[in-house]
Amino acid sequence: MRERLEVKYVFTGIREIARGGMGSVYEALQLGTGGFSKRVAVKTLLPRLSEDRRFVAMFMDEARLVADLVHENIVQIYQLERNRDGYFIVMEFVQGVSLHDFIEFHRVTGENIPEELAVFIASRIARGLAYAHSRADAEGNPLNIVHRDVCPTNILITTEGLPKLTDFGIAKAATNAMQLHDRHLVGKFPYMAPEQARGQPVDFRADIYSLGLVLYEMLVKHPARHGSTRTALLQAARTGEIDWAALPEQTGPALVSILEHTLQSDRALRYGDTAELAHDLEYYIYHKGYGPTVVTLEHYLRKQMPGLYVRERSHGKLTWVTRGAVSTVALPAPDASPQEVRPAAPSPAGADSGSAGGDIPDSAQSC
Ligand SMILES: Nc1ncnc2c1ncn2[C@@H]1O[C@H](COP(=O)(O)OP(=O)(O)OP(=O)(O)O)[C@@H](O)[C@H]1O
Ligand SMILES: [Mg+2]
Repeated sequence: MRERLEVKYVFTGIREIARGGMGSVYEALQLGTGGFSKRVAVKTLLPRLSEDRRFVAMFMDEARLVADLVHENIVQIYQLERNRDGYFIVMEFVQGVSLHDFIEFHRVTGENIPEELAVFIASRIARGLAYAHSRADAEGNPLNIVHRDVCPTNILITTEGLPKLTDFGIAKAATNAMQLHDRHLVGKFPYMAPEQARGQPVDFRADIYSLGLVLYEMLVKHPARHGSTRTALLQAARTGEIDWAALPEQTGPALVSILEHTLQSDRALRYGDTAELAHDLEYYIYHKGYGPTVVTLEHYLRKQMPGLYVRERSHGKLTWVTRGAVSTVALPAPDASPQEVRPAAPSPAGADSGSAGGDIPDSAQSC
């Protein structure tokens, strides 16, 4: 067997999907030989972050930690690379909708997310987190993996109805980089656990808290914390106050208990095991013998957001018509023309150079 095999990756059909706090996300085709191609997502780091050697070192440390996370509810990382423009991560492309857009869709249409689907989504993400939180190294030492940025833009739902958590390992390096730059905390105040907002060390229980806030938002259709200024948001995050009265009247008492156990400001009073939270959420939806599955969620998406399932031909290839929040909310357009698939040089980081002078923008604070 050869000890080393060198390959060069070629990406084509690169198309920007979104711009986040740390860089942009692109949809691309990774080419192989004999007409092989695989749809991937490429996340670039802002040039300023790519140039920051201490940030890159921390980022790599985290990337190494999460590289082997393989779970159906976690977006898998395929590769960490750099080109002349900076660093980029190649990962599983999720055809579907972000939870942020899913919630926004319901906000705009005035419909509620069915409670059992909200709990189903949260239970799947809890399973992904429980898996990551319990990882250990070869000697059995816990890896202490914490996501630190569980929020609706980091939860994607595939068109097959499978919820997935993305951006593992990115927030820690970002937080440290921000401290290096003596800037504000990274992470999203509306979803931060109180101890995280106070700048204290965090463990897996911060993720449990953030997931509680995400579930709360799915039920209430607006974030648990909403302030007009960053200071107000940060203050709310630090105190951890929750407006329980905003929960829909029909919310099951057992679900309210789960939320209360999840959203304790004092982390010692929270769930002390992510698998226990996952179990309680599952028990809530399945204890009667049957409950929602990926198929239920897929059927719901097909009915509510049929635009997600439109496929059209473009450049001789069958491609999905992907839309962002606004056009998804504007509702299905089966006859809409596909977005342009732009053949581009394989330098995804290059498209990023114009953004905010390489600084992390304030948009990092909203999810
Ligand atoms: N693997 C992926 N497959 C498909 N779409 C993705 C993927 N990763 C991210 N996206 C899309 O890009 C959006 C923005 O993601 P991104 O992580 O860049 O921003 P963010 O979560 O708002 O901020 P942050 O940089 O703090 O994570 C997601 O909400 C989703 O719509
Ligand atoms: Mg993200």
